Amino acid sequence: MASLTVRQLDDKLKRLLRLRAARHSRSMEDEVRVILRQAAEETGLETLDLINPPTQPGWQKARAVTAETKRILLIIGGGIAAYKSLDLIRRLQERGAQVRCILTAAAQHFVTPLSVGALAGERAYTDLFDPTSEFDVGHIRMARDTDLVVVAPATADLIARVAHGHASDLATAVLLATDKPVLIAPAMNPYMWAAKATQRNLAQLTADGVRVVGPNAGEMAERGEAGIGRMAEPLEIASAALAIIRGAGALAGKRVLVTSGPTSEPIDPVRVLANRSSGKQGHAIAAAAAAAGAEVVLVSGPVNLPDPPGVSAVHVETARQMLAAVEKALPADVAVFAAAVADWRPQQMSQSKIKKHGRPPTIELVENPDILSTIAHRKSGRPRLVVGFAAETDHVVANAKAKLLKKGCDWILANDVSPETGIMGGDSNTIHVVTADVVESWPPQSKDEVARALVVRIAAALEEAKR
Ligand code: CTP
Repeated sequence: MASLTVRQLDDKLKRLLRLRAARHSRSMEDEVRVILRQAAEETGLETLDLINPPTQPGWQKARAVTAETKRILLIIGGGIAAYKSLDLIRRLQERGAQVRCILTAAAQHFVTPLSVGALAGERAYTDLFDPTSEFDVGHIRMARDTDLVVVAPATADLIARVAHGHASDLATAVLLATDKPVLIAPAMNPYMWAAKATQRNLAQLTADGVRVVGPNAGEMAERGEAGIGRMAEPLEIASAALAIIRGAGALAGKRVLVTSGPTSEPIDPVRVLANRSSGKQGHAIAAAAAAAGAEVVLVSGPVNLPDPPGVSAVHVETARQMLAAVEKALPADVAVFAAAVADWRPQQMSQSKIKKHGRPPTIELVENPDILSTIAHRKSGRPRLVVGFAAETDHVVANAKAKLLKKGCDWILANDVSPETGIMGGDSNTIHVVTADVVESWPPQSKDEVARALVVRIAAALEEAKR
């Protein structure tokens, strides 16, 4: 490439340039770089800094930038899981993403800017007040010139600082300044994860719209420590990231079946056996799946909720009607069974109102069909992904694991419905996603947020299955 020096310019141009540079408190050379960059951007080469080959050896791994290229800003926090972020860079690139990285000061104890930069194909950024990077990119532009910000690992400290709006280093300043979706992958010791302060901070972040992937349950780096706190695997994070970027269309072309609400089993024409389910979670899932572009059939028991926009709703009363409606709605790519189906029904419904004749009546109960289990065990026409819920009051995760096996579904979303949690009928939910391999604990969040997070996870799983 031809080289250009300020000295070669004519005097008038030099004077103008000197004036302009002084106005911006820059050197004349820096001012020229800004002018060139602006000119390139105006001609559509806004990714000049990405196209311009850096001198790091990793450049060969960066791909040509196209209109479809997704830009991901990866913030690496200071935890032992940071080593997995090197793999994450690769996984994101394999999925067509351009990855730019920021390392916190603590992260640099675990991975070096050199290794991260080599993999990313662009220097890794570390300092808020680094004149080179501020000049090259600037933290505000860095926060905006991306399609998604991913924080992995998101340590307890980083989560706390972001939740409180700190901007004391490059990572937090970018997170405060960004107008793009943010996905965090928490990683920490199980005690730190369970701490009330961490859960408060996470609840704040999810209320602010931050998406969360993981953490998973398993062995910790510390010898003998195990529990919930392991960072989600790079593949899971990459899939969740891509599903968020695809956003509105994440489930386009997919058919999703959702059951919701209670069932109501008649005793006589005026009395029923019912339960306290409000249908809020199931309806929120149907709405989120429809918003993500899916064709949604919602089979709902009696609830006081309007049908969510864009879904085909089928209204039923009893478990047997629900099963029939579900079977009729198949085939589907995904089925989510959020309904609180009555386990039993009166063996016989009295055709006339049962009157008080001294002794209270004895109502004989028989078991209802298990809708989830019936669909999950289908030999043909089984949806590719079958998701159940587990409403538990004790040993939530252990019972959910047993339910996963017994019912033959792919995931169970377990929640603690003890009265003190306020989940039954309430607006928020704390979910543990139990699959054959992992237990992922989500922070307390609203039922709408749970629904959106589930849709992202479903889209990621379908995407992964294609690979
Ligand atoms: N489910 C179902 N049909 C039933 C009972 C439950 O489809 N007859 C589904 C629920 O929609 C949920 C999952 O099975 O996705 C677990 O429901 P839950 O009430 O937690 O468990 P049960 O199977 O009823 O077991 P138990 O009451 O003994 O905990």
